[in-house]
Amino acid sequence: MDALKLLKQDHDKVKKILSELDETGEKAVKTRTTLFAKLKRELTIHEIIEEEILYPAFEEQAKLKDIVLEGYQEHHVVDLILGELAQLSPDDEKWGAKLSVAKENVEHHIEEEEGDMFKKARQLFDSGELEQLGQRLEARKKEVEKETPEELQETRDEAHEENAA
Ligand SMILES: [Fe+2]
Ligand SMILES: [Fe+2]
Repeated sequence: MDALKLLKQDHDKVKKILSELDETGEKAVKTRTTLFAKLKRELTIHEIIEEEILYPAFEEQAKLKDIVLEGYQEHHVVDLILGELAQLSPDDEKWGAKLSVAKENVEHHIEEEEGDMFKKARQLFDSGELEQLGQRLEARKKEVEKETPEELQETRDEAHEENAA
């Protein structure tokens, strides 16, 4: 599959979970817990495949370099907010506010990728190259999907240390 289409599918899935979470209240502890775990897993896998495969390929293009560097930092900020949310009890009055901020940050990041980044990528890579990148993303995604939450976090930390710190 075309790399950009594959990532857009992930984006849509993540946005849907965020909207569902945004509608929950403090009493919906179980729903918040389940949906948050789903969100964290989806986002972590997505960040891993972008940082291991997509961003390094894009970074080689001068026209994409700055926006990719910004992307790494945006992933970093999203990770920080999600980390804080994970520490907070879903019935805490601050939980909803923090979730809203996470939602705004993720949505902003998705807009930047699907806007400027993907548009430039379509000009710089032909459909065969994007298809090949998509295959690599898909294969790596299948691999990391098998990991436990702890293993996944380790994989994420490795990519993160290299790119955003
Ligand atoms: Fe991203
Ligand atoms: Fe993305």
